[in-house]
Amino acid sequence: MSVQHLADVADMRPHQDLASRSVAACLSGASVKFGRFTALENISLEIGEGEFWTILGPSGCGKSTMLRLVSDLVPAAKGNVEILGKTTEAARLAREFAFVFQDATLLPWRSALQNVELPLEIGRKRGAKIPRSDKDPRELLDLVGLKGREDALPHELSGGMRQRVAIARALVCKPRLLLMDEPFGALDEMTRDHLNLQLRDIWQETGVTILFVTHSIPEAVFLGQKVLMLRANPGRVKDVINVDLPAKREIALRETPEFNRYCGRLRQLLEEC
Ligand SMILES: Nc1ncnc2c1ncn2[C@@H]1O[C@H](COP(=O)(O)OP(=O)(O)O)[C@@H](O)[C@H]1O
Ligand SMILES: [Mg+2]
Repeated sequence: MSVQHLADVADMRPHQDLASRSVAACLSGASVKFGRFTALENISLEIGEGEFWTILGPSGCGKSTMLRLVSDLVPAAKGNVEILGKTTEAARLAREFAFVFQDATLLPWRSALQNVELPLEIGRKRGAKIPRSDKDPRELLDLVGLKGREDALPHELSGGMRQRVAIARALVCKPRLLLMDEPFGALDEMTRDHLNLQLRDIWQETGVTILFVTHSIPEAVFLGQKVLMLRANPGRVKDVINVDLPAKREIALRETPEFNRYCGRLRQLLEEC
């Protein structure tokens, strides 16, 4: 390749990156107050579309508040938040995002399939035109590994299976942003490992942007492309760590020195918070 050609390529690259990379969430100097208490202060972040971010930080530092800010559940007292180029309210009305919480919050009298269908039914009843996943609710249950359990009631499913239903339900309106607040926090370790692998597959298959709050440093490193560390009182960005590990994650990755170096670095950052 000629020197001129190399120079041309080098010259083109920034423009191409700018054109191809859209922003899922942009926070500019955003603060959240509850009365006189400042829960989050001066948060500035740009989350690219299709990225997987995990969020760590001491208890009470504002992790859940950040997801609530992004999803229009609490307003910014200062600064600005844009989701896919829209206000948070416009993004909420367009169903650009969906939530998964620690508790699956399924309706106990509806089957797994009927729970997944619920957001579509609610949308139809309201006469709203809502986006739909390319996959139908049965296919989404298959995607989360629940083929054959469509008719089971929530009490007939394990905690991990109920969380899988909640993930399928979150995907049914084809969100471009998935907000997950310690979704696997109450599960045993093996179930959690399994769901971590499955979530990485779902992310790669759907291309959805994910913001995932966790208490677990290994989980944050295993899942994330970027780890956002928040510090407390008031909640601020402590650091953003790029996780440069292979895209295909397997449980054995956790035994590698690279993985443990990331964990060590984050543990140290957390101690400083
Ligand atoms: N609705 C609310 N009213 C008053 N204070 C709140 C409210 N929600 C959260 N907080 C406070 O804001 C801080 C951050 O809370 P939260 O985002 O839940 O923390 P985290 O999820 O990191 O544990 C905590 O001190 C919490 O007590
Ligand atoms: Mg929380």
